Amino acid sequence: MITLNIANMMSGVMGQKGISEKSVEGIKDRVLAAHEEITQRKRSGLGFMDLIKQDTKDIKKAAEAVRGKYDNFILLGIGGSALGPKCIIEALSPMHNLKKSPKVFIYENVDPMTLNNILSVLDLKKTAVNVITKSGTTAETMASFMILYERLKGSPENFIATTDPEKGNLRKLATELGFKTLPIPPDVGGRYSVLSPVGLLPAEIIGADSDELLRGAGDMQKRCSGPDVWKNPAYLMGALLYLMDKEKGRKTDVLVPYSDRLKVMAEWFCQLWAESLGKQGLGLTPFPSLGTTDQHSQLQLWMEGPEDKVIVFIKVDDHGADIKIPEVFKESGTGYLGGHSLAELINAEEESTELCLQRAGRPNMTIGVPSIDAYHLGQLFFFFEIATAFTGFLYGINPFDQPSVEEGKNFTYGMMGRKGYEEKRAEVQEARKKKAGWKV
Ligand code: PA5
Repeated sequence: MITLNIANMMSGVMGQKGISEKSVEGIKDRVLAAHEEITQRKRSGLGFMDLIKQDTKDIKKAAEAVRGKYDNFILLGIGGSALGPKCIIEALSPMHNLKKSPKVFIYENVDPMTLNNILSVLDLKKTAVNVITKSGTTAETMASFMILYERLKGSPENFIATTDPEKGNLRKLATELGFKTLPIPPDVGGRYSVLSPVGLLPAEIIGADSDELLRGAGDMQKRCSGPDVWKNPAYLMGALLYLMDKEKGRKTDVLVPYSDRLKVMAEWFCQLWAESLGKQGLGLTPFPSLGTTDQHSQLQLWMEGPEDKVIVFIKVDDHGADIKIPEVFKESGTGYLGGHSLAELINAEEESTELCLQRAGRPNMTIGVPSIDAYHLGQLFFFFEIATAFTGFLYGINPFDQPSVEEGKNFTYGMMGRKGYEEKRAEVQEARKKKAGWKV
């Protein structure tokens, strides 16, 4: 089971810089209210909690068909429709394309050069295309879909659409064009969709067991189901970050996995946390990082820069591989490393960074992960999702909407000439006039 160590967040260890147990007790009513929001399903968006009960038969069948027939798998999606799958692939099948088939490509940003490069190495006829969009309308995803559809005309069997079961343009088109489809349940938002077919199909494509992801999430759900904040690690993380913001003015949380395989998990978490909590002038700003790399880039700032951050480490016990450092150069200054291993070194670096920060009075906590496999990845996903929803309820905001993301989409629709968005287009033109005189 993953664990959470909060020692370096608490006043017992950190003195004035930490949170007292009394402060945590002091928000008990808010905690209980947030717990009730979750357990009583007071608003829509909590459907991600039901994903653990999914029947994965259809997903496995679709993946098997792809694996048996295609050399490549390309995923078109953005935001919640790309980061979860990307995280699963990086964590469970690092360097996938150098080692395994089908090769997997994720095209999320609409950078023309990226698609150009991907298309230059793919034989599209031997490529399965998974278009993922919950809304079925996102401009980036639909544009890249249109390009690939046109190039693959006459081959609807190459496409799998993962989208809302009823709503949206993609659902309509997929039905008309006879694509294989997989549903994103209506009550599951984009950034909470990693354990739906959005993440489970790519997981199966790379040879991971989607049932293991769900089993891990299910066990984490049990672990995080009680109202007692001291016994519920997801609530505890949320409550401490909330208190660090409210009491100590720490408004940035940095997530630092000490594993290359979890680098994208920090990006996935940042989207989840930022889009869920950044509302009404509230929320903490998440920042994705990587240990040990960022010790040589960011640590100076974390220790001596503005006192506005909380560092959250992810420490991995078993990295799945280890390499001994040979006992060479014994008489040189570097001989002390010989006989140890890389896993020992990366974990020693993590522990030493925790201690540096603690000594400098900079609060931090550590999520412990026994190993990086589908089971523990499922636990991490669910842990962060429930912690995020809970923290949103502590702040008294809705963690499931994203009005500002929608506003950005609306201006784009206006500029690209979508019907019904003429006013947005006019607003953009007006803004362009104002900008014009300020270019140097
Ligand atoms: O969490 C969200 O709702 C967003 O970040 C979406 O994932 C993102 O905007 C993509 O939306 P869609 O899946 O509808 O294409």
